[in-house]
Amino acid sequence: ISAMVSAALAAPALAADLTVGFSQVGSESGWRAAETSVAKSEAAKRGITLKIADGQQKQENQIKAVRSFIAQGVDAIFIAPVVQTGWEPVLEEAKDAEIPVFLLDRAIVVKDKSLYMSVVTADNVLEGRLIGDWLVKQMNGKPCNVVELQGTVGASVAIDRKKGFAEAIANTPTIKIIRSQSGDFTRSKGKEVMESFIKAENNGKNICMVYAHNDDMAIGAIQAIKEAGLKPGKDILTGSIDGVPDIYKAMLAGEANANVELTPNMAGPAFDALEKFKQNGTVPPKVIKTVTTLWLPADAQSELDKKKDMGY
Ligand code: AHR
Repeated sequence: ISAMVSAALAAPALAADLTVGFSQVGSESGWRAAETSVAKSEAAKRGITLKIADGQQKQENQIKAVRSFIAQGVDAIFIAPVVQTGWEPVLEEAKDAEIPVFLLDRAIVVKDKSLYMSVVTADNVLEGRLIGDWLVKQMNGKPCNVVELQGTVGASVAIDRKKGFAEAIANTPTIKIIRSQSGDFTRSKGKEVMESFIKAENNGKNICMVYAHNDDMAIGAIQAIKEAGLKPGKDILTGSIDGVPDIYKAMLAGEANANVELTPNMAGPAFDALEKFKQNGTVPPKVIKTVTTLWLPADAQSELDKKKDMGY
């Protein structure tokens, strides 16, 4: 990093001169599409040139994109890493080229933390914990069988959201996770996996709640619950994470119960940190945390209204 600081100080840059390459995960969810759209508008606001590569949920595509950004000599690289391991070699290459790397919304596991400058992320363990705490309160001692729709296997957010929820229900033996499987953060996979859970659990009658690691999977699950002749939000409760407009609409229709909001503006704080670093060598904090809030049906209308200006 110190070599990068001297390089930054030697050539102070105006935002308008900066080019950033962004290796995006893909377009698996409504939240992801909003994150991409906010990244574009935040770049445009600052006069930064943003090049986006869609990784289509594959790490190998993301690694190729990062290599291509290095070859193009961009001023910085943003990565939303699909999984948390396997990044060392390509990050070494970025470091050798003195190109600062910012991680957006998902974290990675590397021994040498100097391989990236900062990660902009929510507290993903807290997200899961908030849904779990809500359920414990909601059940008030009554038993509840939970089915869990996990995010992409190996993604930091899926690991953390699982952990937070499990921690929250750990001291409540009447609440049990009876099935847990990945729905890869997509609506169609969420629906498919929920259908199999319903079939395996007495046509859904053994299920009290579905905990989905994102809203798109929850919306797919809601569809599956309806098709099985049950009432989502009543016969089977729902809890999920993101805050996409459709989940607030489902809440307003009485079909979803609890939601934790994740801001799609991950690029904005990264651009701010990058600009400061390029202008005067200010090294940003390693973790730049975004705000995490639990919303319930009573909040749904006002949250839905706010979403209009948030890239959705
Ligand atoms: O990394 C953030 C997660 O990725 C979002 O919660 C999910 O919708 C997306 O696919």
